[in-house]
Amino acid sequence: MAKLKSVYVCSNCGNDSPKWLGKCPVCGEWNTYVEEIISKDKSPAKGGLHPFETSKAKPLLLKDVETAEEPRINLHDAEFNRVLGGGLVPGSLVLIGGEPGIGKSTLILQTVLGLNSLKTLYISGEESARQLKLRADRINSNSENCFIVCETNLEQIFVHIQNLKPEFVIIDSIQTIFTDVVESSPGSVSQVRECSAAILKFAKETNTPVVLIGHINKEGSIAGPKVLEHIVDTVLQFEGDQHYMYRILRSIKNRFGSTAELGIYEMRQNGLREVSNPSELLLTQNHEGLSGVSIAAAIEGVRPFLIETQALVSTAAYGTPQRSATGFDLRRMNMLLAVLEKRAGFKLIQKDVFLNIAGGLKVNDPAMDLAVISAVLSSSLDISIEKHVCMTGEVGLSGEIRPVNRIEQRILEAEKLGFSKILVPQNNLKGFTSKVNIEIVQVRKVEEAFRQLFG
Ligand code: TYD
Ligand code: MG
Repeated sequence: MAKLKSVYVCSNCGNDSPKWLGKCPVCGEWNTYVEEIISKDKSPAKGGLHPFETSKAKPLLLKDVETAEEPRINLHDAEFNRVLGGGLVPGSLVLIGGEPGIGKSTLILQTVLGLNSLKTLYISGEESARQLKLRADRINSNSENCFIVCETNLEQIFVHIQNLKPEFVIIDSIQTIFTDVVESSPGSVSQVRECSAAILKFAKETNTPVVLIGHINKEGSIAGPKVLEHIVDTVLQFEGDQHYMYRILRSIKNRFGSTAELGIYEMRQNGLREVSNPSELLLTQNHEGLSGVSIAAAIEGVRPFLIETQALVSTAAYGTPQRSATGFDLRRMNMLLAVLEKRAGFKLIQKDVFLNIAGGLKVNDPAMDLAVISAVLSSSLDISIEKHVCMTGEVGLSGEIRPVNRIEQRILEAEKLGFSKILVPQNNLKGFTSKVNIEIVQVRKVEEAFRQLFG
C-alpha cells in the first residue's frame, strides 16, 4: 500500500505546512489549518488525471497576440449575459456561489435548457437525473441538446466529456467532486483545489466554457480554499432573502467584464423570471399618507432603481434604545441618527429606531442616506412624505448633503417612473443637460431637505 502522507492546509489561502499551525503565516488567519491526507504520487500519468489532449503551447510575442474581440456565447438571458460582461466567454471558468436553496441549480438548468444550439453536459453530484427532470418539467422548457450525468469522480467525468464532446459543461457542485489522485474526502481543501485546477486546464485547452456551482459556508464565503476564487475567471454570487422572491446575481470577480453589473430575478413557481425593471417590483405598494416611508433613487451595480425605505421610531421601552436595520448598514444608520440629533435637534436618544429596505434587498449605495434620514424623521414627526417625491444624496457628518455619482441616471429613472419631484445634492448637476419633466430641487443641508419635505 502506498504510504500516506498528510499535510496541514490553510482553508483560507491554501498554504500548506507539515505541521499544524494556529495562525497562517501567509494570510494571517487564525484556526484555518485542517489536516489533509495526500497520496505520495501525484503524477497525472498514474491517476490518469488529464485524459484530454495537451496542446503544445509556444511562447508568442505579446505584440503578435491577436486582439480580436472575445467572441461571446449568448445565454439568452439578458441578466446573466450582462453580469458576465456581455455573454459567456469560450474557455472561461465561471464559479457561482450561493446559499443552499437559493436557486443556483435552477438558474443554471434554466439557462442551459434555453440554449438549444449548444451541446451541454450537466454533471450533477447532488441530485439524481429524475430530480433534475422534475425540475426541468417545472421550468417547462425543453432542450434537445442537454445531457445529464450523475457523477462525482473527476476521472470518470473526463471520460464522459471525452465521449460526448460537449460545448458547455456544468458541474453542480465542485464540493461533491473528487479525484483519485488526492486521498482526502470530497469538499476538502485539496480535493477542491486539485479538481478545479484540472477542470481549468480542460477549459483552457479545449476552449470549452465551464460553470462550477459552489457552496457557501456560514461566514458567507465560497467554501473551499480562497485559491478556488483565484483559479477561476469569474466569480458570481447568487443571493437573496429566502422569504422574498427576488434573487440577485452579482459579479465579484470578472476577468472579462466589469464587476459593477447586477442581475435581478424573481423566483416563480415555474423557474426564475428576469426582472428588467427592478423599480416596478420594488415600488408596488401604495404608501400614500403613511409616515416613515421615503423613496430613494439608488444605484446598485450600474443600474438605477427607486426603492422604498421604511422607518419606525417609537419611544424606547427600556433604558437602552433599540436600533435595528434590515438591508442597510447599522453603523451607518447610527451615524445618520447622530447627525439628525445634532443638526436637526431631534431627541432620538430615547427612541427605538427600526429601519427596513423594501423587498429584502441590501443596498450599499451612500446616496440612500438622505432617504433614510427622511424616513426616520417622517416617522418621528408622524408626517408622511408626498407620494411623488423621491430623493438621493449622501449625508456628511456636519449635515451637509454631498454629491453622488451618476446623478443623471437617477433623475431619468425617477422621471421614467412618474415621480414629480426629486431632491438632489447641490452642485451635483454639473454637466447635466437633459431636458426632464421632473422638478429637480437642489439641497445643501439636511435642514433644507426637511423644509422641502415637511414644510
Ligand atoms: P435550487 O436551485 O435547488 O437551489 P440551490 O441549487 O441553490 O441549492 O433551488 C431550490 C429552491 O427554489 C426550492 O426552495 C424551490 C424553489 N423553486 C421555485 O420556487 N420555483 C421553481 O420553479 C424551482 C425549480 C424551484
Ligand atoms: Mg443545487
